[in-house]
Amino acid sequence: MRRAAHQLLDDPKVFDDPVALRIIGKESASALQADPRQFEATPLSSYLRAFVAARSRYAEDELALGLRHAVRQYVILGAGLDTFAYRNPYPQGRLHIFEVDHPATQAWKRARLSEIGMTLPGDLTFAPVDFETQTLEEGLRNAGYDPVKATFFSWLGVTEYLTTEAVMATLRFIVSAPKESGIVFDYMISPSLLTPDQRARFDALARRVGSAGEPWQAFFDPEVLTRDLRAMGFRRVEDMGPEEINAKYFNDREDRLRVGSLSHLMNAQV
Ligand SMILES: C[S@@+](CC[C@H](N)C(=O)[O-])C[C@H]1O[C@@H](n2cnc3c(N)ncnc32)[C@H](O)[C@@H]1O
Repeated sequence: MRRAAHQLLDDPKVFDDPVALRIIGKESASALQADPRQFEATPLSSYLRAFVAARSRYAEDELALGLRHAVRQYVILGAGLDTFAYRNPYPQGRLHIFEVDHPATQAWKRARLSEIGMTLPGDLTFAPVDFETQTLEEGLRNAGYDPVKATFFSWLGVTEYLTTEAVMATLRFIVSAPKESGIVFDYMISPSLLTPDQRARFDALARRVGSAGEPWQAFFDPEVLTRDLRAMGFRRVEDMGPEEINAKYFNDREDRLRVGSLSHLMNAQV
């Protein structure tokens, strides 16, 4: 919904996603088009919308860089309603896409795709995996993932819902991928590092996701996470905080759209 709202509300767009409005379904799309601001009324909403747009843009920019080198597979972890596979700009056969998601979410998405009459691309494979109970390796192996091909992974809007152990286990699998593989993921900063203002926003959001039955569980200190990823064996590790994200994607905007202070993106290359 936020990616779709971004298409309607923000000019210039940070992330161009012509499928976003279609994939939310006819009813939601009509409601959003009738009054795009109704779901985006609070200041927090615009921060979240900006972050959802920026993290997808960053992941797909990094994927594009990887494709200029050895990357031949794209694994979208916790894909949700990610639409990359349905607007893949690369020639057929250049990139194999794996959508990995919780089996329940994936079944829901597949029903939605069929409802909207979306043709499934030949270079897309669905891999149902529950990160808490199954290994990514097993899920990908069953889906035909090729472990000798360099692979780019994105993991957007997911790590905060998992346990720290599940996040680290997945990252350990990714660091074992061939050279030139990499991952972009976002994560929630440890509440102990926040100022009182930031903490108030954190608490408001945490309450909202908790009452929806999906509490945040994993939090990271950017410096410690950077150090841990290097120790794990990632060759290049870059953390982008809110200032860097705003400077990269939201500079000089008349509408002052920008990400909020809780936004962090990690880029780790094998
Ligand atoms: C907020 S959505 C993000 C979706 C998408 N990546 C995006 O950026 O729009 C969170 C996603 O995490 C997935 N997820 C949460 N817990 C999971 C688990 N234990 N195993 C697999 N996926 C999980 C959900 O199924 C959902 O697709």
